[in-house]
Amino acid sequence: MPEALTAFDPFSPEFAADRYAIYRRYLAAGPVHFGVPSTPGPTGTWYVLGHEALTANLKDARYVRELGKLMPGRPKPEMPEPYRPFWEMASRWMLFKDPPDHTRLRAVVSRAFTPRRVRELATKIEASARSLLEDARRDGEVDLIAEYAYPLPVFVIADLIGIDPSERDALRRWSAAIGAAIDMRSSADSYGPASDAAREIKAFLQGFIAERTREPRDDLISALIASRDDDARLDDEELVATLVLLLIAGHETTTNLIGNGTLALLQHPEQLRRLQDDPSLVEHAVEELLRYDSPIQATFRFASEDVTIGDQAIPALAPVGFMLAAANRDPSVFEHPDRLDVTRQVGRHTAFGLGIHFCLGAPLARLEATIAFRALLHHAPRLALAESAPRWRPGIAIRGLERLPVTY
Ligand code: HEM
Repeated sequence: MPEALTAFDPFSPEFAADRYAIYRRYLAAGPVHFGVPSTPGPTGTWYVLGHEALTANLKDARYVRELGKLMPGRPKPEMPEPYRPFWEMASRWMLFKDPPDHTRLRAVVSRAFTPRRVRELATKIEASARSLLEDARRDGEVDLIAEYAYPLPVFVIADLIGIDPSERDALRRWSAAIGAAIDMRSSADSYGPASDAAREIKAFLQGFIAERTREPRDDLISALIASRDDDARLDDEELVATLVLLLIAGHETTTNLIGNGTLALLQHPEQLRRLQDDPSLVEHAVEELLRYDSPIQATFRFASEDVTIGDQAIPALAPVGFMLAAANRDPSVFEHPDRLDVTRQVGRHTAFGLGIHFCLGAPLARLEATIAFRALLHHAPRLALAESAPRWRPGIAIRGLERLPVTY
């Protein structure tokens, strides 16, 4: 007899205590579950956990981002004032758009964000990783998030875009404030700081765009400015919003891959030892670390028409939560899914999403993480946990540690 389950609730204390136990129980009962609303409002949300159901449906154009477009003529809901400056920026992100705007925004960035630009960063990433680990080396405890996992991706994305590294602290502050407002049902307290950050970062970037318009360089910002003359052009607001998206998408997630992955390895010393014995396995291991504790656990869409997944009928306009991290623990695809195995043939994990919104920065994220873990193995061979159970940040869709206290 399948276990009788209550509505799927990612906001429950049980989920906060052990989300993977919850995924396991619901996956055993079926691929799709109705659950509590993912955004404030009266309706519930359908949550897709099963790997097959998720991969088939996340690619399906019947699930969309822009709910407003499904209800033409209906007045837009009044946006509460503290939320407005933040949302005016975030609503221009390709992440929250459907075609044709999504296609146009993504094409412009893809053209400027070339494989060459990413490859050329490798030497700089290696140097930064080494210098951060050397600076952090001392007797006693070190917070690996604050001293390594956080600054490394900020340095990389700032460098890629072309922003002076001296602005790193401000970028980090703005990005944390905006990141806190985009998680599921983020608290109303996060909107004020996110809107303040949106205003400040916009002013900063506008100055910066003016400077690069006068004097272009070989950086991403200059390439995006140049593309404003093309057919698929970005307007001024879209240019600022796109840069903010890259800044945020480019570092919160990678920080969490380095943090979550390091914790997983320290909690499985035999797996860590395999990598220490053979560092050439690291690139492969990054895929298993992405699968095992995915930095982005969920993404949302709306059903544009009545749809059916498995035995669940989902009505038009309903919110659908695609639980990427649950699919990555689906036993019908991954043998012993709760086991970390750095030599596993991972195959089709879903940590970078799927379909038209598949992560644009995946090659950069893979490169950064491979270099970050290799540097850690090399420069910190005696790394150990200083706290057995480090605390997680409260996010649901964004999964990352508050701190990771270690000794070298
Ligand atoms: C480990 C690191 C990363 C993870 C786990 C990750 C994960 C994801 C996921 C799951 C999506 C799809 C979201 C959805 O379907 O709603 C996404 C989209 C995106 N990511 Fe990443 N990401 C990472 C790093 C990066 C980096 C380094 C960059 C850029 C420099 C980046 C830029 C983007 C952008 C621009 C999108 C939106 C694409 C679109 O809407 O078409 N990401 N990422």
